[in-house]
Amino acid sequence: MCGIIGYIGPKAVAPILLEGLKRMEYRGYDSAGVALLNGTGLQTRRAAGKIANLEAALASQPITGVVGIGHTRWATHGPPTERNAHPHRSGDESVAVVHNGIIENANTLRSALVELGYEFRSDTDTEILAHLIEELFDGSLEEAVIAALTKVEGTYGLAVVSSRDPGKIVAARKGSPLLIGIGVGENFLASDPSAVLAHTRNVVYLNDGDVAVIERDAYRVIDRHAATIPHTVDRIQWDLAEIERGGYDHFMLKEIFEQPMSVENTMRGRLILADGTAKLGGINLTHADLMNIDNVVITACGTSWHSALIGEMMIEELCRIPVEVEYASEFRYKNPIVTDRTLCIVISQSGETADTLAAMREAKRRGAKTLGLVNVVGSTIAREDDGGVYLHAGPEIGVASTKAFTSQVVALALFTLKLARKRDLSVVRGREIAQAMHGLPAQLAEVLASAPAIEAIAEEFKESTNFLYLGRGYNFPAALEGALKLKEISYIHAEGYPAAEMKHGPIALIDDRMPVVFVAPHDAVFDKVVSNIQEVRARHGRTIVITSRDEPALKGLIDYEIRIPETEDMLMPILSAVPLQLLAYYIAVKRGANVDQPRNLAKSVTVE
Ligand code: M6R
Repeated sequence: MCGIIGYIGPKAVAPILLEGLKRMEYRGYDSAGVALLNGTGLQTRRAAGKIANLEAALASQPITGVVGIGHTRWATHGPPTERNAHPHRSGDESVAVVHNGIIENANTLRSALVELGYEFRSDTDTEILAHLIEELFDGSLEEAVIAALTKVEGTYGLAVVSSRDPGKIVAARKGSPLLIGIGVGENFLASDPSAVLAHTRNVVYLNDGDVAVIERDAYRVIDRHAATIPHTVDRIQWDLAEIERGGYDHFMLKEIFEQPMSVENTMRGRLILADGTAKLGGINLTHADLMNIDNVVITACGTSWHSALIGEMMIEELCRIPVEVEYASEFRYKNPIVTDRTLCIVISQSGETADTLAAMREAKRRGAKTLGLVNVVGSTIAREDDGGVYLHAGPEIGVASTKAFTSQVVALALFTLKLARKRDLSVVRGREIAQAMHGLPAQLAEVLASAPAIEAIAEEFKESTNFLYLGRGYNFPAALEGALKLKEISYIHAEGYPAAEMKHGPIALIDDRMPVVFVAPHDAVFDKVVSNIQEVRARHGRTIVITSRDEPALKGLIDYEIRIPETEDMLMPILSAVPLQLLAYYIAVKRGANVDQPRNLAKSVTVE
């Protein structure tokens, strides 16, 4: 949720830290700060609000150094003020700490430190670490950090510098991602590969329990006894251009328009048209494993949970295996029915969502095989699952998930196709579905061509205060996703419902001020949805209908129509998602909202 950067090397430190923080601003953006070490000690600059405020603070009061750490924050403990911004310093100003995660025994540790005479200058749990490291320091910063961490319960990705042991950054990870960026005569630390990509592609992803000591010409990964442990060096596959806006006003718009390509990339080399199946190299499931699956649990959060609902319908329809979809946050604390014949599919764009990771670990603990559908290569879920399907959608920077959603549904369709063909699905039917998938990139491009018409609809509805999104079958999760997109970036209250369920409550909300978005392509339940549109019209609701044909049944029922092409029912949400994303985007922009960094949100939710 927050972003961490560290640098040690010959270049000016503050600009490198600032640049890294800007690349991670999508991870958290309520305050930011840096701490630099030079011959005279520690100097910090911090500011509430966006990184631009920190930049201004550094411009008016510059600081210099040879090693530094920085942080962009998403508040958990204490409001987003300068006083609570990281880095936090120890009482004697010798130690500075930046931290992602939550220290669960903060109250106990704080009381003990107050007893020892430490004074607290912030409301954060992080400040405890700074004092604790000062208290335990005995000549070696890494040993002090290790000693402090033995007293800490909770999660952390953290970076520490100290004027008493200069020339190094010490980092530690438990539950919150961190990586070392390896340079020549310089090294980096970051919570996100995008922060170091301008400088190096070579990275070491730290594992939970790792501590790292990063110096200018060397780095070490050590364990809790300060013994060096082996590590692997990975290459970041993304290009810098992919994490830049490339002429678009917002990352979200860029990512919406990338979908013909991102969906193509998810399928590349995997779809086998001739056999009507898919080749998925990383799933690590043998023929026997696939045949022995008794039930499937899909677990995820947010948008990824919506794609899970679509996966549930696909797998049940084509593979005839019972599927349950669980919010990861609920699954982890249930007593779920999971056996060694359960396949647990874990869906996450970031691969770092704390609840999803914990749910996956719980499923593994109970003996299930886990399959991760993850976008970020090298992320924790991708490294800990038993097998996986990378989405290959490219970096998603906008906080609102767009291209990851469509790629998730495509990845689910690929897996369903593979599993169904192993079981009962005929080659003829498999080929039809594979052929339809093959046509998706061109169809997505067609849908995107209606962006100007959708922008005009957004103009009509930008002042609305409530929206209802309705759909049935495969398009019910699409309706949920449309409502989530609108609420998270425009702050308009929006609800998604199964269209027929409207009669059991939400219909009371409908009057001539209520816009109702129907996701109503010509699929198996189209006629049923027409009846629901009639019910809304009879109560003077304003209808925006996403549909796929010139249907006589719709005459007189539609205020605004958005046309999408037709495909297999199970693939329809991939096409219907795009107008929903565009509608939310244009409404938010017209309301002056910051679509890439909506208030209170962060791209990757790494706290419980
Ligand atoms: O990275 P993940 O897919 O695990 O993230 C899950 C949710 O936090 C995420 O989808 C969130 O709901 C997005 N802001 C939705 O646009």
